[in-house]
Amino acid sequence: MQVVSSFVEQLPKAELHVHIEGTFEPELMFEIGSRNHVDLPYNSVAELRAAYNFRDLQEFLDIYYAGTSVLLHPQDFYDLTWAYCQRAAAQQVRHTEIFFDAQAHTERGVSFETALDGIDQALADARTKLGLSTKLIMCFLRHLPADSAQKTLESAARHRDRIVGVGLDSSEKGYPPHLFEDVFAQASQMGFATVAHAGEEGPPEYVWEALDKLKVSRIDHGNRAMEDDALVERLVADQMPLTVCPLSNLRLQGVTDMRAHPLRKMMQRGLKVTVNSDDPAYFGGYVNENYAAVQDALELTNDELVQLARNSFEASFISEDERAKHIAALSSYA
Ligand code: ADE
Ligand code: ZN
Repeated sequence: MQVVSSFVEQLPKAELHVHIEGTFEPELMFEIGSRNHVDLPYNSVAELRAAYNFRDLQEFLDIYYAGTSVLLHPQDFYDLTWAYCQRAAAQQVRHTEIFFDAQAHTERGVSFETALDGIDQALADARTKLGLSTKLIMCFLRHLPADSAQKTLESAARHRDRIVGVGLDSSEKGYPPHLFEDVFAQASQMGFATVAHAGEEGPPEYVWEALDKLKVSRIDHGNRAMEDDALVERLVADQMPLTVCPLSNLRLQGVTDMRAHPLRKMMQRGLKVTVNSDDPAYFGGYVNENYAAVQDALELTNDELVQLARNSFEASFISEDERAKHIAALSSYA
């Protein structure tokens, strides 16, 4: 397990890229499976963890979606979300923007509201009991057709007060962003913020499409943008935030060694990068372990760590007052 310095541990930060289904620790998965009488295709926590040996994004996603099969009732979604919020608050996460994959549940016959009600109640409790500020983003699964995304957007529209934005995730290669151009245009019209996974495994062209066709205000991952100088210049000029996930990139073989991770080069090029956990239960660490991994491997200075945390607040969907408050707290951190 990654050793976390007290500097990283105490650093106030926001997390902007975490899939709530990716925070499902095996122990809780077995507990919920058992109370719901749903069998997992593994005999034990150890056997399940041993399967976390992914060659690529798709191998991970197959296991990740299988894990959601035990989530049936609002209480299950509550328990999952509450467990994450407790960990985040303990890591000095002051604000978190959580993704959920509505279609991973509705496709199994679990209603949109079952998932939303459980997640939202835990987020409300996190605000009052943990002082953790939260927002919820619903991601469309890009391996499903655009008309499924369209129906899911109509469900989200009924809960505009509880969902701040929409995103795009799941299998990237072969599913370019332009397939979702109409759905994203409608989502924007409805007042949702928009973000999209792009350039995780997919080519720089997908990042261009996320910018020009989906008109997103953040790119999730974006690592492969570094292959295209004109794209880097565009991202820098727009100060487009990239929500980078170092341990995810390592575990999904985007990089073979953390010392080869592009994060530091991205910062040096002037990109507005943030550090996030993606699917912490599967990738060996929550947000602080991600900061620690790049701090060690790339020899980041304390100033660079503070810059990453500042970027996380600047790139978040909080109000200007909230942003000023968090950035002031960071200015007095040294
Ligand atoms: N869903 C959960 N984690 C994901 C990732 N890293 N990329 C795409 N979709 C995801
Ligand atoms: Zn992700």
